Amino acid sequence: MEHKKNFISCPVCKTSHVTPLNTRNDGVFASTCENCGHFFKFRSIAPYKSSITFSVNGKQVTVGTEYSSSATLNDFLRQSRLSMGTKVFCKQGGCGICIVVAKMTLNPNGTPVTANINSCLCPLFVCDGWEITTIEGLGSTKTTMHKIQSTLSSFGGTQCGYCSPGHVMNMYGLMQQYPNLTKQDTEDNFEGNLCRCTGYRPILDAMKSLVPATPPDIEDLSTKLCKTTGQPCASRSDNCGGGCSSHGDPRSIQMVFGDTRWEKATDLANLYQILSQTSGQKVRLLGANTGTGYFYEEAIQNFDVVIDISGVPELYVNTHDAQTKTFTLGGCLTLTDLMNIFKREASKVGGNPNFKELKKYLYRVASSPIRNRGTWSGNLMLKNKHHSFPSDIFNIMTVVGASLTIGQTPQSVVICDAFYKTDMTGKCLSKATFKEFGPNDVVACFKVMPRSQNCLAHVNGAFRCAVDKVHGYLVTSRPIISIGGISDTFHRATATEQYLYGKQLSSPATISGALTALAAEVIPTDAVGLTSASYRKTVACALLYKFFLRVLGDSASYQYRSAADVLHDIRPLSSGVQTYDTNKQEWPLNEPLKKLEADRQCTGEAEYTDDLPAYPGQLYASFVTSTEANATVQSINSDEALKIAGVVKVLTSFDIPQGATNDVQPPSSFSKELEPEELFSSGKVMYYGQSLALVIAESQDAADQGARAVKVTYNSIQTPVITIDDAIAAKTYFKKPLPDITFGTPDQAIASAPHQLNGTFATQEQMHFHMETHASVCVPTEDGFDIVTTTQWPDGIQQAVSTVTGIQKSNIDVSVKRLGGAYGGKITRNNIVAAACALAAKLTNRPVRARQTIQTNLRMMGRRFPHKFVYRVGFDDNGKLLGIDMKIYEGQGYLPNEDSASFFFAFIDNAYYCANWKLSVEAMRTNTPMNTSCRAPVSTPAVLAIENMMEKVARSLNKDPATVKQLNFYKEGQRTLVGEVLTHCNIRAVMTELMTSAQVNTRQSLFTFFNKDNRWKKKSLAVVPVKFALSWAYSMYTVTVSVHGRDGSVSVSHGAVEMGQGLNTKVAQVVAYELGIPIDHVTVKTTSSTMSANNNTTGGSVTSEECCKGAIQCCKEVTANMKPVKDKMVNPTWLDLVDKCYYDNIVLSARYSVAGILPENGGDIIAYYSYGAACSEVELDVLTGEYQINRVDIVYDCGESLNPAVDIGQVEGSFVMGLGYSLTEEIAYDPKTGKMFNNDTWGYHPPTNKDIPVDFRISLLKNAPNPSGVLRSKASGEPPLNTACSTFFALRNCIEEARKDAGQTGEFDFQPPATIEKVQMACLVDPSQFAI
Ligand SMILES: Cc1cc2nc3c(=O)[nH]c(=O)nc-3n(C[C@H](O)[C@H](O)[C@H](O)COP(=O)(O)OP(=O)(O)OC[C@H]3O[C@@H](n4cnc5c(N)ncnc54)[C@H](O)[C@@H]3O)c2cc1C
Ligand code: FES
Ligand code: FES
Repeated sequence: MEHKKNFISCPVCKTSHVTPLNTRNDGVFASTCENCGHFFKFRSIAPYKSSITFSVNGKQVTVGTEYSSSATLNDFLRQSRLSMGTKVFCKQGGCGICIVVAKMTLNPNGTPVTANINSCLCPLFVCDGWEITTIEGLGSTKTTMHKIQSTLSSFGGTQCGYCSPGHVMNMYGLMQQYPNLTKQDTEDNFEGNLCRCTGYRPILDAMKSLVPATPPDIEDLSTKLCKTTGQPCASRSDNCGGGCSSHGDPRSIQMVFGDTRWEKATDLANLYQILSQTSGQKVRLLGANTGTGYFYEEAIQNFDVVIDISGVPELYVNTHDAQTKTFTLGGCLTLTDLMNIFKREASKVGGNPNFKELKKYLYRVASSPIRNRGTWSGNLMLKNKHHSFPSDIFNIMTVVGASLTIGQTPQSVVICDAFYKTDMTGKCLSKATFKEFGPNDVVACFKVMPRSQNCLAHVNGAFRCAVDKVHGYLVTSRPIISIGGISDTFHRATATEQYLYGKQLSSPATISGALTALAAEVIPTDAVGLTSASYRKTVACALLYKFFLRVLGDSASYQYRSAADVLHDIRPLSSGVQTYDTNKQEWPLNEPLKKLEADRQCTGEAEYTDDLPAYPGQLYASFVTSTEANATVQSINSDEALKIAGVVKVLTSFDIPQGATNDVQPPSSFSKELEPEELFSSGKVMYYGQSLALVIAESQDAADQGARAVKVTYNSIQTPVITIDDAIAAKTYFKKPLPDITFGTPDQAIASAPHQLNGTFATQEQMHFHMETHASVCVPTEDGFDIVTTTQWPDGIQQAVSTVTGIQKSNIDVSVKRLGGAYGGKITRNNIVAAACALAAKLTNRPVRARQTIQTNLRMMGRRFPHKFVYRVGFDDNGKLLGIDMKIYEGQGYLPNEDSASFFFAFIDNAYYCANWKLSVEAMRTNTPMNTSCRAPVSTPAVLAIENMMEKVARSLNKDPATVKQLNFYKEGQRTLVGEVLTHCNIRAVMTELMTSAQVNTRQSLFTFFNKDNRWKKKSLAVVPVKFALSWAYSMYTVTVSVHGRDGSVSVSHGAVEMGQGLNTKVAQVVAYELGIPIDHVTVKTTSSTMSANNNTTGGSVTSEECCKGAIQCCKEVTANMKPVKDKMVNPTWLDLVDKCYYDNIVLSARYSVAGILPENGGDIIAYYSYGAACSEVELDVLTGEYQINRVDIVYDCGESLNPAVDIGQVEGSFVMGLGYSLTEEIAYDPKTGKMFNNDTWGYHPPTNKDIPVDFRISLLKNAPNPSGVLRSKASGEPPLNTACSTFFALRNCIEEARKDAGQTGEFDFQPPATIEKVQMACLVDPSQFAI
């Protein structure tokens, strides 16, 4: 029997009965008739669904309330293990590693849309009826790889591989969405995918190579036809049973979760019915939920009722009425829909060009996967709820003059100005209408943001006016000026609009009058975390000025015209050239092979720590961290946390077992003067974000909730010491890391020099920003632990875990397969996470897993050390250095770590010889996390500082910096600051090649004309040479090579960690070369503390070559063992030889430990130097401070590269990480609490793919074998990073040109990072100079 409308009738007596509550769900139930006593069964089909059905790679899945209402598609894919290739990092839509492709049936009356989306922001319960394709659905190394996967792999587009599935899926989605995708579209639509390793160039090249030739590939994805529809199958999965959700159940959804009710509205009437039933409750209309990415308060779990409006057909209206010339757009249209509409209108014959401008503006809003889901109405609602939100869509809707319809009946219609203040409680924004542009309308839109893409604006603006060109650009209707990013209350420059109406824009008086009016009404809010009020005010004026120049076009004077352009809008497609030598005779040595893991990374099969399956009984952990930076903990109260279902325990410092110590800092060869680093603070809190306690629970959700519920009180709260200047003032010095060094007679040399200069220079911290956050899985064994963890240093983990648990090292087995990025951030910082898990595992005797959120990761873990340099320098008339006196202050954080400051003497001289040096280094304590090595530690700030000094020396003499630098280059035989005599110095060869190939002098002279002709645009270039010291002294890596009998395959184990640098590939190449076998015979195994004990950390660029060295020795030993057998055979094949040895019991394994000789035991500190030089050309928009790197040329001395493809990848990737350090990556603290603001993808800005050079040329120095290197090679992971500061100096030159135009010619101080705010402010932009 079927039941409908909650009544059933007895099949015997026909009496009607109300169904019991649980039969509101689908199912088969039994009942007894209360009237006649007849027992019968009935099938219940509820009017609503209480579960959803969709498909993943062709496999149908049904999910219900076993997941929470706030679960995302990403949570589901990973928890169900249907897609472990889909990664997670930010949960903000800011990194793209979670991208999947969805075929979505949104508009019930429309056709399904297929697009790339961020699974981390997509609520699970909106996916009903969707078809999801994940990286596993494309292809696999075990079957066939998809073309996108194999192309990314073969182009070297993957290093650590953590971002690779996201890149592949983004491209797959684009190709599905745009059948005629162009190279330009491709480059424009990768703004939502971050990569910290590669520098993007190979990724972009790979993706662009796929268009336009390959679109049919997408259709060819599968030759299988769907068993249900007969259409091509969306999945490649062999087990697709035709269960795609498109054949699903059309009923609406009603679900009741713990404390949230979920409804899916079917039409506008139904929506308003639900709204009326839920008045008084906290109700959330759900568009695409992307707003949660920025505003956490919008998260689903914060509401009583969630109403999914994506199935309301009225909200998809999309019409253009030719008669009334009116567009009507429903509230559920996405930003991509809006873009397509503008694109369509612009491309019509006689289409209005203003639509093109709007489309261009939309390209700078969010990212392609966010635009594919986010609706314009959701965006406006964010503005409605959070007035300070610098919404770009608000600008667009304002400038088109949209009328917004709110409600059902009666509807109210408001314009944007009024909407902004409308109380929207219980209401729906249903549509927008606006008229076509008039023929005289001119629209211009601008967005000034911290980097080129995927950021919210510092200031944005949309401007419109109708002008009569013939009559002096007379403004014939009231203009619209919408400006965001100013304050909660300001968004429309009404006074300026009023002023302009009826005036002629060709009159300079109108321009200055309008700018004065705007300056009077724009009053920006000043707050920590925002750019300064004065910056935003001048930018607002500058945008209006740009608009005027747009309107005036060629009527403006020629030197001002170029200011109308936005650099990002005219950026050409990027390209790259890679030049290197390779000797086929030596292959597989020196062969540009793709990395061993590349294919598995591109198919999502490469497994990272948090991809491990959950162990039976596994618990999850979440840290409780401090919200003060300099205080004492008064109490930690866990009562509320322990009441949360699933919370098992809360650990604090009192839980450290007897005999163990609350200290995770391992003693090591590179950190000699250590203080204990507490796992959980025992009282004193030293930085905001410090670990205080650990909540352990049955699920990650419960652990996170528990961590939020733990109450901590503090006393003795004091002002934190944040900056180095604070520390100098507070005299918080650590023990001096390095005795002062004096070479020659610096004081006399400086005093008697013809010229002297002095100055200070400061360099900031930098986040490592590895996208795999710290994670650890600890399984208790019968005598200790098995630990899989994200460390660069397994031995350090053994030490830390042993100290806090009291278990001896030999019972702690640590293994690491690979890391999703590290850059130094996983040398010692994982100790906290691994030790906490181990302690929890010991105390519960259950496996424990922890994975840091992006926020905890960035706030808790240390960063690149910040520095202050105070110097005096004496030099002659040509700029020859005569004496240098430099004092360096290093900000260590709250504890000293890794002894980095003591290595300054190896780097501070860079490529320059000076006979008289005084160097003094101080280490300062600050109330910030314990800082830690970051790619090219010490050398990066050192090179920036010394280059800054060299540039100043040259400028003071009015000489070309490159010439002065070359004059001071080291010569062979000169003694460096380390004290040894320099040999095989290639700096001159490198520099000569660069100066010629980059045509440095010719290009520089052309810029003189450009800068003269363009008042508000400037171009310049700068050259930075680098000498980089590589040390083997601290190495300790054990390598084991085993040849396996019967098939001749070879396995290699080493004590280092593969984290994207290509270490395993180089080792495999060397082994293949030494044994004379094909490389596919060689496998490199997971790093294990048992196979290779006591190994040093992986870092300092040299680990690859050290492991290669060990592998060579092992191969030699195995070859020697085999030799007597081989000598008795005639030209045996490898297999025959191995077979014979195997049966003769020949030892086919060898182990070798590469152990450096410490300097104190007579070893050399420096093994050799590598050399490089870069020339960077930048272009600056003076008015806003935005810039573009037009071209970069790098020549790098990699010796005889072991693998040029890998080494070029290292050069590019490290250069782009250096760009971030020099330009965009800034950290800001609250001076009162010590809270660091930039702990997510909104606040912290690593470069994206359009921040890289437009033209990127890398050349490895030819004919430069390294006599001291392993197989004549040199390292490549770190040194090239230091050349990236050439962009900083090129920008500084541009600023100098702008200042000259502003009437200022004197020297000025400029410190990195060169954020656009700092750049613009340094240019002394003054609206009174905005002439036409
Ligand atoms: C990574 C990222 C980058 C971004 N970059 C930019 C940017 O550069 N510029 C910019 O302007 N924006 C940016 N955004 C914001 C983005 O445009 C919005 O998140 C999106 O447009 C919101 O649409 P949604 O459908 O997801 O709304 P939701 O997140 O579902 O909803 C947002 C709010 O609107 C309410 N709501 C939704 N629809 C309606 C309706 N029809 N009627 C009444 N209330 C409704 C919801 O209840 C909620 O309060 C970015 C967002 C992300 C995640
Ligand atoms: S995890 Fe989804 S965008 Fe970062
Ligand atoms: S390869 Fe892109 S983040 Fe490592």
